[in-house]
Amino acid sequence: MSNATDHHHAAAPWTRLWRTGVLHSCASGIDGNYDDGFARFWLRQFEPLHEGARIIDVGTGNGAIPLLAQSISQARNLHWQLHGVDIADIDPPGSIDARSCTYQGIAFHPNTSMTELPFGDGAADLICSQFAFEYAPRDLAITEILRVIGTHGRAALVMHSEDSLIHTISRSQWEACHWLLQESDVFDACTRLLWHIAQATDAPARRRLSLDPAAESARTAFNAAATQLMERIELSPDAQVLQTTAQALGRMLQQPWQSPDDATTAVQALRAWAQDEQARLGLMLEAVLDGAALQDVVQRFAASGLPCRTGKLMYRDTMPMGWTLEIGHE
Ligand SMILES: C[S@@+](CC[C@H](N)C(=O)[O-])C[C@H]1O[C@@H](n2cnc3c(N)ncnc32)[C@H](O)[C@@H]1O
Repeated sequence: MSNATDHHHAAAPWTRLWRTGVLHSCASGIDGNYDDGFARFWLRQFEPLHEGARIIDVGTGNGAIPLLAQSISQARNLHWQLHGVDIADIDPPGSIDARSCTYQGIAFHPNTSMTELPFGDGAADLICSQFAFEYAPRDLAITEILRVIGTHGRAALVMHSEDSLIHTISRSQWEACHWLLQESDVFDACTRLLWHIAQATDAPARRRLSLDPAAESARTAFNAAATQLMERIELSPDAQVLQTTAQALGRMLQQPWQSPDDATTAVQALRAWAQDEQARLGLMLEAVLDGAALQDVVQRFAASGLPCRTGKLMYRDTMPMGWTLEIGHE
């Protein structure tokens, strides 16, 4: 695969997530935009910025961080130039309901890597990254961020840490996806059962179904797979992916189908959704930094001569959510 194809391939699960209209990557745990410790960290970064400042959020997703900056810029009547860059094919204004937010004044750059930013040397007053820098090739991203902030700009990163709640939940979710996709038979068993059910479109056909040994054996196999799924949900209550799958399969068994093909397509779509979840979770687990990896990143930024400050981002005072790293003069 060429480098560009490679990038596109890794970005595809992200593109599909952002196009579903979730605002940010912690949407299953935080309603609305990032709040509490996240919002406080970002407001502190925006505080010193002057009229007309240029802020670039890398790995922006659906632009949660530019939206936080936009609200400050509007409240203080400062005309900041806000940019969101992502390697995925993002389209926040087309993906998020315009009644919940407007992206006025924010320019988005889809299909753009933070390792090749479309900005000149020293063009940014602040580069932001929330759970994004660590997903990119780090050496290239560091060189590029340093080029674009120059000697006067700053960068602020929130990065996944090994001790974070997000890491714990993501690992459990990844293991659940692995079980669902690589060990359980529930998707295939559901497809086989729906194939019979979708053909029985009237009452006599449904009666015949209960006498059809092939349909009965499909039902028994599905019930066994579904029982295993329910047991697994009890074992991993924080693996939301299992509950979502069980609910979706339950609805599929209740709803009328036009044809067996329609039913098969619906199960395939559910399986593809779980595969995307597993792909993104796998990228997250690879991106997470332990203390030594953080120090490595800090040293590489610090080699530029700019000051670097690290910290921990806490949510609701008790939950560690990630590392923070601030680069540049305060
Ligand atoms: C966990 S999401 C975070 C999105 C957003 N910052 C948020 O907090 O909601 C990581 C994002 O980084 C993007 N990403 C990964 N590698 C990238 C790269 N090399 N350049 C730009 N974006 C990248 C992904 O496409 C994805 O949208």
